[in-house]
Amino acid sequence: MHNPIQVSNDTWWTGVNDFETDLFESLWPLPQGVAYNAYLITGTNATAAIDTVKGPHFDEYIKKLTQALNGRDLNYLVVNHMEPDHAGLISQLKKLWPDLKFIGNAKTVPLMKGYHGITENILTVKDGDALDLGGHVLKFAAVPMLHWPESMVTFDETTGVLFSNDSFGGFGAHEGGIFDDEKLQSRWEDEMLRYYAAIVAKYSNVVQMALKKLSGLKIKNIFPSHGTLFRKDITSVINLYDKWSKQEGERGAVVVYGSMYGNTRRMAEAVCTGLAQAKVYDVRLYDASRVDMSVILRDIWKFKGLAILSCTYNTLLFPQIESLCSKLLNRMPKNKILGIAGSYSWSKGALTALQAFAEKIKLEKVAPEVEVYAAPTAEDLKQCAELGFNIGEKL
Ligand code: FEO
Repeated sequence: MHNPIQVSNDTWWTGVNDFETDLFESLWPLPQGVAYNAYLITGTNATAAIDTVKGPHFDEYIKKLTQALNGRDLNYLVVNHMEPDHAGLISQLKKLWPDLKFIGNAKTVPLMKGYHGITENILTVKDGDALDLGGHVLKFAAVPMLHWPESMVTFDETTGVLFSNDSFGGFGAHEGGIFDDEKLQSRWEDEMLRYYAAIVAKYSNVVQMALKKLSGLKIKNIFPSHGTLFRKDITSVINLYDKWSKQEGERGAVVVYGSMYGNTRRMAEAVCTGLAQAKVYDVRLYDASRVDMSVILRDIWKFKGLAILSCTYNTLLFPQIESLCSKLLNRMPKNKILGIAGSYSWSKGALTALQAFAEKIKLEKVAPEVEVYAAPTAEDLKQCAELGFNIGEKL
């Protein structure tokens, strides 16, 4: 992957792997790294790059880009998205090719000025506008709030490649091959869903609109800006995105807890026992203090069942559970069965806060709401198991 890779007719991958960034957006861990995919199309009349990469990877990106250009100038840069992991090198490209023209939309213009001080040579496009490179006709479609207002996708009518930007993207650097038929799906799907839950999930209704908007295109390949490039089975990857954005959770459950001394954990374990009694075996029991939030969100998005348990901390929710609830309220998941339980010692608070959360999140809630004083009694644990069983019966 140290050289450009031809990914379609006259089309090159010029992206990079990033193993140095620990936290994507300074939020989400990258244990398997991340890839910034960028592309170059060399038409007979003009050349066009599709997005760039994050700033620190200038040397590697420019080496690949110039190699793929093979002595030609870069004429256009299609700016599908202005977030700096893809637009990081716009200013540098302008210095290298002063006549470079930028393709964006009306929402791209202020961001180009704000991030790069660029106000000229920006060609604004609307849905359906075309750019003929000679042998390659590019068409553009806005996908506003997927996940920024200026986000758009580019379709090469000649090759059938959809350059989908963050949509269909995933965490994880390329490990050898870059295409879906060169990787194990079990390796990329989890990281794609973790990316979806962290970055895209809030805009799931926009994903649904975008899928409808793009459904008329004869798409042969989907090349996103992160993660795996899809050429083997486009239908199944579109179906995955459809399922995640419709929030059709699988039969299974996440049981997540915040516990200081293990008592709330014992309650959570009892919830899992109840789920197993209801013959729900795909269960993830997560300690919110020790499992990263993006993994918890990923599996909440994957499964239909959710139980949240918290001890009381300074009269409120345990901080990690509070953080999870805040992230869920930001994303507003749908079609889930929710159970809640709290514990307390010198002051109540957790269950009341979870009840207020449940009111706002508008998920179907099942009984009983369990509240435990100090260490759970056998009767308390029986109630927790009942809660798990009742969640299981609804899945
Ligand atoms: Fe990968 Fe929204 O940038």
